[in-house]
Amino acid sequence: MRNEAMHEKSDGTISRMILGTWAMGGNHWGFCDDVEALRAIDTALDNGINAIDTAPVYGDGHAEELVGKAIQGKRDKVFLATKCGLDIYSRKYERNLSPSYIERDLSQSLKRLKTDYIDLYQCHWPDPQTPVEETMAALLRFREEGKIRLIGVSNFNDDELREAMRCAPLFSLQSHYSLLERSVEQSTLPICRENDINFFSYGSLGAGVLTGKYREQPRFSRGDARSFFYRFFKPRYWPKVRLLVDGLEETARSKGTRPGVIALSWLIKQPGVRSVIVGARSSEQVLDNIADVPVELNAREMELLDHLSGAIYSC
Ligand SMILES: NC(=O)c1ccc[n+]([C@@H]2O[C@H](COP(=O)([O-])OP(=O)(O)OC[C@H]3O[C@@H](n4cnc5c(N)ncnc54)[C@H](OP(=O)(O)O)[C@@H]3O)[C@@H](O)[C@H]2O)c1
Repeated sequence: MRNEAMHEKSDGTISRMILGTWAMGGNHWGFCDDVEALRAIDTALDNGINAIDTAPVYGDGHAEELVGKAIQGKRDKVFLATKCGLDIYSRKYERNLSPSYIERDLSQSLKRLKTDYIDLYQCHWPDPQTPVEETMAALLRFREEGKIRLIGVSNFNDDELREAMRCAPLFSLQSHYSLLERSVEQSTLPICRENDINFFSYGSLGAGVLTGKYREQPRFSRGDARSFFYRFFKPRYWPKVRLLVDGLEETARSKGTRPGVIALSWLIKQPGVRSVIVGARSSEQVLDNIADVPVELNAREMELLDHLSGAIYSC
Protein backbone atom coordinates (compact mmCIF):
# COMPACT_ATOMS: atom_id res chain seq x y z
CA MET A 1 0.00 0.00 0.00
CA ARG A 2 2.04 2.93 -1.27
CA ASN A 3 0.90 6.26 0.06
CA GLU A 4 1.05 8.45 -3.01
CA ALA A 5 -0.20 11.56 -1.22
CA MET A 6 2.73 11.40 1.15
CA HIS A 7 5.12 10.62 -1.66
CA GLU A 8 3.92 13.27 -4.12
CA LYS A 9 4.39 15.92 -1.52
CA SER A 10 8.08 15.12 -1.22
CA ASP A 11 10.44 17.34 -3.24
CA GLY A 12 12.25 14.34 -4.61
CA THR A 13 14.76 14.18 -1.78
CA ILE A 14 13.04 13.93 1.57
CA SER A 15 9.54 12.62 2.16
CA ARG A 16 7.23 14.66 4.37
CA MET A 17 7.33 11.85 6.91
CA ILE A 18 10.64 10.62 8.29
CA LEU A 19 10.89 7.35 10.20
CA GLY A 20 12.19 7.83 13.77
CA THR A 21 14.15 5.03 15.41
CA TRP A 22 14.52 5.95 19.09
CA ALA A 23 12.18 3.18 20.31
CA MET A 24 14.00 0.66 18.09
CA GLY A 25 17.13 1.15 20.19
CA GLY A 26 15.35 -1.00 22.77
CA ASN A 27 16.98 0.34 25.91
CA HIS A 28 15.34 3.66 26.76
CA TRP A 29 11.81 2.99 25.57
CA GLY A 30 10.85 -0.50 26.69
CA PHE A 31 11.62 -3.69 24.80
CA CYS A 32 11.70 -3.60 21.01
CA ASP A 33 11.76 -6.71 18.87
CA ASP A 34 14.57 -6.48 16.26
CA VAL A 35 12.75 -8.51 13.62
CA GLU A 36 9.70 -6.28 13.97
CA ALA A 37 11.87 -3.16 13.89
CA LEU A 38 13.55 -4.30 10.65
CA ARG A 39 10.13 -4.97 9.18
CA ALA A 40 9.00 -1.49 10.19
CA ILE A 41 11.95 0.07 8.35
CA ASP A 42 11.25 -2.02 5.23
CA THR A 43 7.58 -1.11 5.35
CA ALA A 44 8.40 2.59 5.61
CA LEU A 45 10.81 2.44 2.66
CA ASP A 46 8.31 0.46 0.57
CA ASN A 47 5.52 2.93 1.23
CA GLY A 48 6.81 6.35 0.34
CA ILE A 49 8.98 7.23 3.35
CA ASN A 50 12.52 7.70 2.07
CA ALA A 51 14.19 9.26 5.12
CA ILE A 52 15.31 7.72 8.41
CA ASP A 53 16.35 9.57 11.56
CA THR A 54 18.59 7.76 14.01
CA ALA A 55 21.35 8.48 16.56
CA PRO A 56 24.19 6.63 18.30
CA VAL A 57 22.40 7.10 21.63
CA TYR A 58 19.31 5.10 20.57
CA GLY A 59 20.13 1.75 22.13
CA ASP A 60 23.82 2.72 22.45
CA GLY A 61 24.37 2.02 18.77
CA HIS A 62 21.73 -0.66 18.33
CA ALA A 63 19.25 1.46 16.34
CA GLU A 64 22.01 2.49 13.93
CA GLU A 65 23.00 -1.17 13.51
CA LEU A 66 19.41 -2.10 12.65
CA VAL A 67 19.17 0.76 10.16
CA GLY A 68 22.50 -0.30 8.64
CA LYS A 69 21.13 -3.81 8.16
CA ALA A 70 17.82 -2.63 6.73
CA ILE A 71 19.28 -0.30 4.10
CA GLN A 72 21.75 -2.76 2.59
CA GLY A 73 21.19 -2.76 -1.17
CA LYS A 74 19.00 0.36 -0.91
CA ARG A 75 21.50 2.93 0.32
CA ASP A 76 21.13 5.26 -2.67
CA LYS A 77 17.35 5.42 -2.18
CA VAL A 78 17.50 6.42 1.49
CA PHE A 79 18.07 9.84 3.01
CA LEU A 80 19.98 8.88 6.14
CA ALA A 81 20.10 11.27 9.09
CA THR A 82 22.03 10.55 12.25
CA LYS A 83 23.48 12.63 15.06
CA CYS A 84 26.57 13.22 17.13
CA GLY A 85 27.68 14.59 20.45
CA LEU A 86 26.13 12.53 23.27
CA ASP A 87 28.82 10.42 24.87
CA ILE A 88 27.58 6.83 24.76
CA TYR A 89 31.03 5.34 25.27
CA SER A 90 31.23 6.49 28.91
CA ARG A 91 27.51 5.60 29.36
CA LYS A 92 27.10 9.02 30.98
CA TYR A 93 25.46 10.52 27.90
CA GLU A 94 27.20 13.84 28.47
CA ARG A 95 27.16 16.36 25.67
CA ASN A 96 30.39 16.50 23.73
CA LEU A 97 30.68 18.32 20.43
CA SER A 98 34.46 18.64 20.53
CA PRO A 99 36.10 17.87 17.17
CA SER A 100 37.92 14.82 18.55
CA TYR A 101 34.74 13.35 20.05
CA ILE A 102 32.61 13.84 16.95
CA GLU A 103 35.36 12.41 14.75
CA ARG A 104 35.15 9.22 16.80
CA ASP A 105 31.35 9.35 16.88
CA LEU A 106 31.18 9.70 13.09
CA SER A 107 33.55 6.83 12.36
CA GLN A 108 31.54 4.53 14.68
CA SER A 109 28.23 5.61 13.10
CA LEU A 110 29.56 4.92 9.61
CA LYS A 111 30.58 1.43 10.72
CA ARG A 112 27.25 0.65 12.37
CA LEU A 113 25.28 2.07 9.46
CA LYS A 114 27.49 0.14 7.00
CA THR A 115 27.88 3.14 4.74
CA ASP A 116 30.63 5.56 3.77
CA TYR A 117 28.54 8.73 4.00
CA ILE A 118 25.75 10.25 6.07
CA ASP A 119 23.23 12.45 4.22
CA LEU A 120 22.44 14.64 7.22
CA TYR A 121 24.71 14.82 10.26
CA GLN A 122 23.13 16.62 13.21
CA CYS A 123 24.51 17.92 16.49
CA HIS A 124 22.16 16.13 18.89
CA TRP A 125 22.21 18.72 21.71
CA PRO A 126 24.18 21.96 22.10
CA ASP A 127 27.39 21.58 24.09
CA PRO A 128 28.17 24.70 26.15
CA GLN A 129 31.74 23.44 26.78
CA THR A 130 32.75 23.51 23.11
CA PRO A 131 32.82 26.72 21.03
CA VAL A 132 30.38 26.18 18.19
CA GLU A 133 32.98 27.43 15.65
CA GLU A 134 35.16 24.43 16.53
CA THR A 135 32.28 22.00 16.10
CA MET A 136 31.22 23.52 12.81
CA ALA A 137 34.81 23.63 11.48
CA ALA A 138 35.07 19.89 12.15
CA LEU A 139 31.73 19.22 10.44
CA LEU A 140 32.81 21.27 7.41
CA ARG A 141 35.98 19.20 7.25
CA PHE A 142 33.96 15.93 7.32
CA ARG A 143 31.82 17.38 4.55
CA GLU A 144 34.90 18.17 2.45
CA GLU A 145 36.06 14.61 3.01
CA GLY A 146 32.71 13.33 1.71
CA LYS A 147 31.79 11.58 4.97
CA ILE A 148 28.73 13.76 5.48
CA ARG A 149 26.66 15.71 2.97
CA LEU A 150 24.59 18.16 5.02
CA ILE A 151 24.93 19.70 8.46
CA GLY A 152 22.05 20.00 10.89
CA VAL A 153 21.41 20.78 14.53
CA SER A 154 18.88 19.55 17.02
CA ASN A 155 17.50 21.06 20.24
CA PHE A 156 19.36 24.35 19.64
CA ASN A 157 17.65 27.45 21.03
CA ASP A 158 17.34 30.60 18.92
CA ASP A 159 20.70 32.09 19.99
CA GLU A 160 22.52 28.80 19.51
CA LEU A 161 20.91 28.41 16.11
CA ARG A 162 21.96 31.91 15.00
CA GLU A 163 25.51 31.30 16.20
CA ALA A 164 25.75 27.97 14.38
CA MET A 165 24.35 29.60 11.23
CA ARG A 166 27.19 32.12 11.28
CA CYS A 167 29.76 29.30 11.23
CA ALA A 168 28.38 26.88 8.63
CA PRO A 169 25.51 26.47 6.19
CA LEU A 170 22.82 24.72 8.19
CA PHE A 171 20.41 22.44 6.39
CA SER A 172 18.03 21.77 9.25
CA LEU A 173 16.88 22.11 12.81
CA GLN A 174 15.22 19.18 14.55
CA SER A 175 13.08 20.06 17.58
CA HIS A 176 10.15 18.94 19.67
CA TYR A 177 6.90 20.08 18.06
CA SER A 178 3.38 18.70 18.08
CA LEU A 179 -0.07 19.61 19.38
CA LEU A 180 1.40 18.82 22.82
CA GLU A 181 4.43 21.12 22.56
CA ARG A 182 4.21 24.32 20.59
CA SER A 183 6.93 26.58 21.99
CA VAL A 184 8.89 26.61 18.69
CA GLU A 185 6.05 28.57 17.09
CA GLN A 186 7.00 31.80 18.87
CA SER A 187 10.38 32.52 17.29
CA THR A 188 12.18 29.35 16.24
CA LEU A 189 9.98 28.44 13.28
CA PRO A 190 10.04 32.03 11.96
CA ILE A 191 13.87 32.04 12.18
CA CYS A 192 13.99 28.79 10.21
CA ARG A 193 11.61 30.15 7.59
CA GLU A 194 13.55 33.40 7.21
CA ASN A 195 16.86 31.57 6.85
CA ASP A 196 15.80 28.65 4.69
CA ILE A 197 16.52 26.11 7.38
CA ASN A 198 14.41 22.97 7.10
CA PHE A 199 12.47 22.27 10.27
CA PHE A 200 11.89 18.66 11.32
CA SER A 201 9.52 17.95 14.22
CA TYR A 202 10.13 15.16 16.69
CA GLY A 203 7.67 13.80 19.23
CA SER A 204 5.15 14.40 16.44
CA LEU A 205 2.72 11.84 17.88
CA GLY A 206 3.42 12.84 21.48
CA ALA A 207 5.31 9.57 22.01
CA GLY A 208 2.10 7.72 21.10
CA VAL A 209 -0.31 9.83 23.21
CA LEU A 210 -1.87 11.50 20.16
CA THR A 211 -2.85 8.14 18.70
CA GLY A 212 -5.37 7.88 21.55
CA LYS A 213 -3.78 4.64 22.81
CA TYR A 214 -3.78 5.73 26.47
CA ARG A 215 -7.21 6.00 28.09
CA GLU A 216 -5.50 6.54 31.48
CA GLN A 217 -2.27 8.32 32.21
CA PRO A 218 0.51 5.81 31.43
CA ARG A 219 3.20 4.96 34.01
CA PHE A 220 6.67 4.10 32.77
CA SER A 221 9.57 2.54 34.63
CA ARG A 222 12.31 4.90 35.86
CA GLY A 223 14.76 3.94 33.12
CA ASP A 224 12.19 4.58 30.40
CA ALA A 225 12.90 7.94 28.75
CA ARG A 226 9.21 8.69 28.44
CA SER A 227 9.05 9.08 32.24
CA PHE A 228 11.25 12.19 32.13
CA PHE A 229 11.77 13.38 28.55
CA TYR A 230 8.28 14.60 27.60
CA ARG A 231 6.62 16.98 30.08
CA PHE A 232 3.09 16.20 28.91
CA PHE A 233 3.30 12.84 30.73
CA LYS A 234 3.36 14.68 34.08
CA PRO A 235 0.16 14.08 36.10
CA ARG A 236 -0.80 17.77 36.34
CA TYR A 237 -1.09 18.08 32.55
CA TRP A 238 -2.92 14.82 31.94
CA PRO A 239 -6.57 16.05 32.26
CA LYS A 240 -5.97 18.71 29.56
CA VAL A 241 -3.96 16.25 27.44
CA ARG A 242 -6.91 13.87 27.60
CA LEU A 243 -9.32 16.65 26.49
CA LEU A 244 -7.08 17.27 23.45
CA VAL A 245 -7.09 13.55 22.61
CA ASP A 246 -10.92 13.56 22.95
CA GLY A 247 -10.96 16.39 20.38
CA LEU A 248 -8.70 14.42 18.05
CA GLU A 249 -10.93 11.36 18.41
CA GLU A 250 -14.06 13.35 17.66
CA THR A 251 -12.46 14.93 14.57
CA ALA A 252 -11.14 11.55 13.44
CA ARG A 253 -14.58 9.92 13.81
CA SER A 254 -16.20 12.54 11.63
CA LYS A 255 -13.65 11.80 8.89
CA GLY A 256 -13.54 8.03 9.26
CA THR A 257 -9.90 7.98 10.31
CA ARG A 258 -7.74 7.78 13.45
CA PRO A 259 -6.66 10.46 15.96
CA GLY A 260 -2.95 10.09 15.11
CA VAL A 261 -3.71 10.86 11.47
CA ILE A 262 -5.44 14.10 12.52
CA ALA A 263 -2.49 15.07 14.76
CA LEU A 264 0.05 14.48 11.99
CA SER A 265 -2.10 16.26 9.40
CA TRP A 266 -2.31 19.31 11.69
CA LEU A 267 1.46 19.29 12.14
CA ILE A 268 2.32 18.90 8.45
CA LYS A 269 0.12 21.93 7.76
CA GLN A 270 2.08 24.24 10.07
CA PRO A 271 4.09 26.87 8.18
CA GLY A 272 7.79 26.05 8.12
CA VAL A 273 7.51 22.34 8.95
CA ARG A 274 9.47 20.55 6.23
CA SER A 275 8.88 17.00 7.46
CA VAL A 276 7.54 15.27 10.54
CA ILE A 277 9.67 12.63 12.21
CA VAL A 278 7.43 9.82 13.44
CA GLY A 279 8.72 6.96 15.55
CA ALA A 280 7.44 3.40 15.17
CA ARG A 281 8.39 -0.02 16.42
CA SER A 282 6.31 -2.17 14.07
CA SER A 283 5.17 -2.22 10.46
CA GLU A 284 1.55 -1.93 11.65
CA GLN A 285 2.36 1.37 13.31
CA VAL A 286 4.13 2.63 10.19
CA LEU A 287 1.17 1.73 7.96
CA ASP A 288 -1.24 3.25 10.45
CA ASN A 289 0.68 6.51 10.46
CA ILE A 290 0.99 6.97 6.72
CA ALA A 291 -2.35 5.58 5.57
CA ASP A 292 -4.47 8.76 5.36
CA VAL A 293 -1.95 11.54 6.09
CA PRO A 294 -2.52 14.33 5.32
CA VAL A 295 -6.29 14.73 5.62
CA GLU A 296 -7.85 18.15 5.04
CA LEU A 297 -8.81 19.99 8.22
CA ASN A 298 -11.30 22.83 7.97
CA ALA A 299 -11.04 26.14 9.86
CA ARG A 300 -13.40 24.98 12.63
CA GLU A 301 -11.39 21.77 13.18
CA MET A 302 -8.09 23.67 13.22
CA GLU A 303 -9.57 26.14 15.72
CA LEU A 304 -10.77 23.37 18.03
CA LEU A 305 -7.32 21.71 18.03
CA ASP A 306 -5.60 25.08 18.58
CA HIS A 307 -7.85 25.80 21.52
CA LEU A 308 -7.45 22.38 23.18
CA SER A 309 -3.68 22.27 22.71
CA GLY A 310 -3.25 25.88 23.83
CA ALA A 311 -4.94 25.06 27.13
CA ILE A 312 -2.50 22.32 28.16
CA TYR A 313 0.32 24.38 29.66
CA SER A 314 -1.86 27.19 30.90
CA CYS A 315 -2.98 24.93 33.78
N1 LIG B 1 16.66 15.15 18.49
C1 LIG B 1 16.15 14.69 19.60
O1 LIG B 1 16.57 15.05 20.71
C2 LIG B 1 14.99 13.73 19.53
C3 LIG B 1 14.22 13.50 20.66
C4 LIG B 1 13.15 12.63 20.55
C5 LIG B 1 12.89 11.99 19.35
N2 LIG B 1 13.71 12.20 18.27
C6 LIG B 1 13.47 11.52 16.98
O2 LIG B 1 12.13 11.66 16.62
C7 LIG B 1 11.54 10.36 16.51
C8 LIG B 1 10.08 10.47 16.87
O3 LIG B 1 9.91 10.92 18.20
P1 LIG B 1 9.44 9.95 19.30
O4 LIG B 1 9.73 8.56 18.84
O5 LIG B 1 9.99 10.42 20.57
O6 LIG B 1 7.88 10.18 19.40
P2 LIG B 1 6.64 10.03 18.43
O7 LIG B 1 7.02 9.93 17.03
O8 LIG B 1 5.72 11.09 18.85
O9 LIG B 1 6.01 8.65 18.94
C9 LIG B 1 6.49 7.45 18.48
C10 LIG B 1 5.98 6.31 19.33
O10 LIG B 1 4.54 6.30 19.38
C11 LIG B 1 4.06 4.95 19.33
N3 LIG B 1 3.33 4.82 18.08
C12 LIG B 1 3.74 5.20 16.82
N4 LIG B 1 2.80 4.94 15.91
C13 LIG B 1 1.77 4.40 16.56
C14 LIG B 1 0.50 3.94 16.18
N5 LIG B 1 0.11 3.99 14.91
N6 LIG B 1 -0.33 3.44 17.12
C15 LIG B 1 0.03 3.40 18.41
N7 LIG B 1 1.25 3.82 18.86
C16 LIG B 1 2.09 4.32 17.95
C17 LIG B 1 5.30 4.06 19.36
O11 LIG B 1 5.69 3.79 20.71
P3 LIG B 1 5.05 2.62 21.61
O12 LIG B 1 4.78 1.48 20.71
O13 LIG B 1 6.04 2.37 22.64
O14 LIG B 1 3.81 3.21 22.20
C18 LIG B 1 6.36 4.96 18.77
O15 LIG B 1 7.66 4.59 19.14
C19 LIG B 1 12.42 9.46 17.38
O16 LIG B 1 12.25 8.11 17.06
C20 LIG B 1 13.76 10.03 17.02
O17 LIG B 1 14.17 9.56 15.76
C21 LIG B 1 14.73 13.08 18.34
